[in-house]
Amino acid sequence: MRRSIITGNWKMNSTVAETVNLINGLLKAGAADSKGEVVVCPPFTSLESAGKLLKDSSIGLGSQDMSEYKSGAYTAEISAEMLLTLGVTHTILGHSERRQYHFETDDRVNRAAKVALEAGLTPIICVGETLDQRDSGDTEKTVGSQIEGTLAGFTADLLLRTVVAYEPVWAIGTGKTATPEMAEDVHRFIREKIAAIDKEAADQVPILYGGSVKPSNAGELLSQPNIDGALVGGASLKVDDFIGIINAL
Ligand code: 13P
Repeated sequence: MRRSIITGNWKMNSTVAETVNLINGLLKAGAADSKGEVVVCPPFTSLESAGKLLKDSSIGLGSQDMSEYKSGAYTAEISAEMLLTLGVTHTILGHSERRQYHFETDDRVNRAAKVALEAGLTPIICVGETLDQRDSGDTEKTVGSQIEGTLAGFTADLLLRTVVAYEPVWAIGTGKTATPEMAEDVHRFIREKIAAIDKEAADQVPILYGGSVKPSNAGELLSQPNIDGALVGGASLKVDDFIGIINAL
């Protein structure tokens, strides 16, 4: 059985006070009682407060990025060690917004993922095609090359501690969701690509879907055989919506 994971990517939303409110709301609403894993990823500035609130709960805490370097003269970067001291367990890497606005490459994501794994953090590696790439029939070419690049040099042991998220760029924050069948097709393709590295490990890697997930579409998406969870943006900022998605598991 593969692990099921619902992750909230809060993006650049929530002050410390708003983070405390949202996490208290989630705890009160029973987010920690989910059958699957639940992870929240507030901004860096809120991680310390979030870590204190989540210390004794089963809810994981993720950062939205981290440095591929361990320490040193890298102004504004945040290292794996710094995150660990705040109770961080996961880190999102290669989100399409980082790729688009900060020119992150598969190679950079690959290096950061290896540093995260070495430190004991679980990387959530994001891949996904743009609308142009889908329209020109290049979805598999794009996603395939992102998987090859971000997972280059991974052993079975590293794969077993890694999470992949498929987020079609055209479905992020647009209200347009991939149909469950469209998403499943790409998830199956991703698992086959991972199987080229190690077949047994590929069967165990959770592959999350992201892009306008909400309570009303979560059930159908999550019931697909290769969709093991969700990476949720907007809907993870509202307690009722996020709980609705968690309950869809
Ligand atoms: P939305 O759920 O707001 O579309 O965002 C998805 C996402 O980018 C999560 O990482």
